[in-house]
Amino acid sequence: MNKKDYSEYFVKPSLKEAVKRTKTTTEIVKDEYKLDEKYLLGKDKTYFIRTFGCQANLRDEETIAGILELMGYTKSEDITKSDIILLNTCAVRENAEERVFGEVGHLKAIRQINPDVIFGVCGCMVQQESIVEEILKRAPHIDLIFGTHNINRLPELIYQTYMSKERVVEVFSKEGEVYENLPVKRNDSLKAWVNIMYGCDKFCTYCIVPYTRGKERSRLLADIIEEVKCLKEQGYKEVTLLGQNVNAYGKDLKLGYDFATLLEECAKTGIERIRFTTSHPWNFTDRMVDVIAKYDNIMNHIHLPIQSGSDEILRKMARRYTYAEYKELYNKLRDTLPNCSITTDIIVGFPNETEEQFQKTLDAVNELEYDSAFTFIYSPREGTPAAKMVDNVPMEVKKERFNRLVEAVTRSAKKRNEAYVGKVLKVLVEGPSKKNEDVLSGYSEENKLVNFKGSKDLVGKIVNVKITLAKSWTLEGEAIE
Ligand code: SAH
Ligand code: SF4
Ligand code: F3S
Repeated sequence: MNKKDYSEYFVKPSLKEAVKRTKTTTEIVKDEYKLDEKYLLGKDKTYFIRTFGCQANLRDEETIAGILELMGYTKSEDITKSDIILLNTCAVRENAEERVFGEVGHLKAIRQINPDVIFGVCGCMVQQESIVEEILKRAPHIDLIFGTHNINRLPELIYQTYMSKERVVEVFSKEGEVYENLPVKRNDSLKAWVNIMYGCDKFCTYCIVPYTRGKERSRLLADIIEEVKCLKEQGYKEVTLLGQNVNAYGKDLKLGYDFATLLEECAKTGIERIRFTTSHPWNFTDRMVDVIAKYDNIMNHIHLPIQSGSDEILRKMARRYTYAEYKELYNKLRDTLPNCSITTDIIVGFPNETEEQFQKTLDAVNELEYDSAFTFIYSPREGTPAAKMVDNVPMEVKKERFNRLVEAVTRSAKKRNEAYVGKVLKVLVEGPSKKNEDVLSGYSEENKLVNFKGSKDLVGKIVNVKITLAKSWTLEGEAIE
């Protein structure tokens, strides 16, 4: 049965509201997250969540799962046998959205097997007005839509979905709070995501994230450290500190501490491995570099998105640095942290990018020799400033540039990896490799994926592996004593 639209539980997003930044302080919610009995709806029922997008979304999935389990639901491995199915979506590029619409279509068949199933769509995509309209129009079988600021309201929203014959839509567009009280059901027992801040205030002109995630707001240092200590006690070996721009950590709090302070305090907890992502090249402080150099448990890997090598394009992207400034930081990192790997993100085909400007990006990749890079073709995002620019670059040209870029990135990744042959890397063993049951795989401190032969009881341990072969995206080796 398809549901009608409903009035009380029918709050749609507003891009105009999402862009506002007015509050100077952020509410931190700490009251106990208790559920009224009427919300314990999940007895003998199961849930299934499919997540798209970045680590922030993966971490949100764990909160959503935590809330559903508090309601009594258990996790299902089989989507066709689940009572509630959620698509946790990403809006960063159009192809991510197309995949979601594909999935939304596939869901329909499940209702024939299980008429009482609830279909929900959440995450960044539904923070956009036009997407919600499109789902309402094109996908009447979707029962529930909720936004990134509405996760804490899930019990009430599911309750309403069961009780009413209407579909429930609740997507707030606001600056956002910091919730310290929400339950979490983690997907992994070795590595954990730790949010240190939410949202983004950078407003790079191509990017939708500041509109879907609210303003930049930090968690208190003490709360983060408490979480890291707890994770260590539970046996976690690695934490990844998450923020759209971790360098900005603490600025909004005005409590006299910053990301360097936080990193150092995390290191002092003694947890075995600390990673962080993402660092904007702007405001990467010398103190951060010093702290990374000082502590062995801060991993030798920095993800430092460049986006473009052309100053003109960087300015149009509002990235706040020139190529020369980026390069200076990059070289400083390479000099002070010689064992550190550096990876990046690059966008090809920003509106009106000329061949010459693209060539600057290609030159940058050849000059800097990244360990690896995520490369994207620019995708206009409704509501962002770049989407309003008239673009004279045909898609075939963008694709051709993209291929040249991928070639350059592959070459530099291979070269970087080859330098590890004969060296010993410390690998946190995650399990048998996806391709071959007899092979173990895990990530080195430099975030290199390493495959090697070894016995299964090494899973969960940090093992010394001597590298014997370098490929572009993986290393092979053998465990040594
Ligand atoms: N906060 C992170 C990145 C978040 S999005 C940062 O600032 O680095 C991850 C990457 O997606 C970005 O670094 C960018 O390279 C890419 N991206 C973002 N918006 C895009 C768009 N409209 N088209 C293509 N790629 C985009
Ligand atoms: Fe997007 Fe820029 Fe914020 Fe990263 S820093 S999330 S690219 S606006
Ligand atoms: Fe996508 Fe939202 Fe992350 S748009 S990249 S899931 S913050």
